[in-house]
Amino acid sequence: MMTIEEISMADVKEIAVMENKYMYAPYSLTVLNEMLKNPNCIGFKVVEDGVTAGYISGQTVIDEFNINNVVVKENYRRKGYATALIEKVIERCKAENIKKLYLEVAQSNEAARKLYEKMGFKFSYERKKYYGNQSALVLIKSI
Ligand SMILES: CC(C)(COP(=O)(O)OP(=O)(O)OC[C@H]1O[C@@H](n2cnc3c(N)ncnc32)[C@H](O)[C@@H]1OP(=O)(O)O)[C@@H](O)C(=O)NCCC(=O)NCCS
Repeated sequence: MMTIEEISMADVKEIAVMENKYMYAPYSLTVLNEMLKNPNCIGFKVVEDGVTAGYISGQTVIDEFNINNVVVKENYRRKGYATALIEKVIERCKAENIKKLYLEVAQSNEAARKLYEKMGFKFSYERKKYYGNQSALVLIKSI
């Protein structure tokens, strides 16, 4: 069974492990702790049979929401979990009267770019060499 649950400080270690394993520019435990303490931070995890399979987090900036990270563990991918996490964030944002979602994705991250495109995010602008030698694409979705 799969459920989507709000993340709390108790999840921070598990999230740090996923960050280190799967992210190009992982957040450290210290940064994650600070993020989760921020009252503007919203995050959800996807849990399958008691195991955390992935998570999403981001923060509200007035009437906008910035998605910081979406990660799904390798053996849980292509099951719609990232989609479900983003949909949950959209549902929460709508309830809080947020009008726009933002995110940054590395240009070479084809899986993530496909996912966001499928979910209706549109290219806004390029941040050159944002990740070392790689550009970041800033994507926006109005909700
Ligand atoms: C990107 C990521 C979060 C996708 O998670 P996921 O749970 O597998 O995504 P979903 O199952 O919801 O996929 C939805 C759609 O996105 C696209 N997609 C996802 N992974 C893809 C891949 N590897 N190649 C091509 N398209 C892909 C497909 O259109 C897919 O729909 P389909 O399975 O019906 O074809 C996951 O690959 C991941 O954790 N990657 C490493 C971390 C990362 O790069 N995060 C993004 C940082 S900005």
